[in-house]
Amino acid sequence: MRVIKLEETQSTNNYAKEHITLLEDRSIVHALRQTNGRGRLNRTWVDLGDNNLFFSIVLKPSNAFCPVYSNLTQYASVILCKIFENYGLNPKVKWPNDVMIDGLRKICGILCETVIENNELKGIILGIGINLNASKKDVENIPDRVVTALNLEIGKSVNSEAFLDEFLTEFFKSYDEFLSKGFEYIMNDYIKRNCFLEKDLNVQVLNSVKSGYAKGINNNGELILQTEDNKDLILNIGDIL
Ligand code: BTN
Repeated sequence: MRVIKLEETQSTNNYAKEHITLLEDRSIVHALRQTNGRGRLNRTWVDLGDNNLFFSIVLKPSNAFCPVYSNLTQYASVILCKIFENYGLNPKVKWPNDVMIDGLRKICGILCETVIENNELKGIILGIGINLNASKKDVENIPDRVVTALNLEIGKSVNSEAFLDEFLTEFFKSYDEFLSKGFEYIMNDYIKRNCFLEKDLNVQVLNSVKSGYAKGINNNGELILQTEDNKDLILNIGDIL
């Protein structure tokens, strides 16, 4: 595993994309500061200052896309939950991959992007931002969502290098097994930490909003929404609003 450490970059995902052919499988692009961090749904990912984490994992498992790659963000979210639990917290997953402390306060974000050229998969970029050290004022200033940071939850500052090492160790410990077994490998761990099932949800899917009752998660990690007309809608992308 090669770690490329940058003092500052616009976005570690952009950097990984621009250098995708040069970066080997399992490379990590880690930036100390991010000036234009990107989130899902064209949102920005705010840099909350020193000792927060912004990194992208570059994965090149094969030249063709396999369905299990869509579950990588869910795999990462379960690993993050387990680490936060070791700090005595109660993290929950909001489908597909948001980790929310007590199901309420977002502590990290995952943005997965693929680079495909001439029908060939050049790489998967799993970009992860984790709020480890922030001031209460700065998290409160983030618009439209309730955000937290690990130091605010546990009452002391956190060593970001040690946290990154722990995450990467845990991520790669079972990565190969996860790829071969698929979502079912993490299904129980994922579902038992959910904060969205058995609730009425509005889900942003591309340019439309789907509403329904969250009935379950299938073997592929997809969300089963029961609509008003009693039909099952299977969603493989989307953001719960
Ligand atoms: C989200 O929850 O909307 C996803 C946020 C992902 C943020 C990380 S920070 C490192 C990587 N680089 C980016 O520009 N975005 C991801």
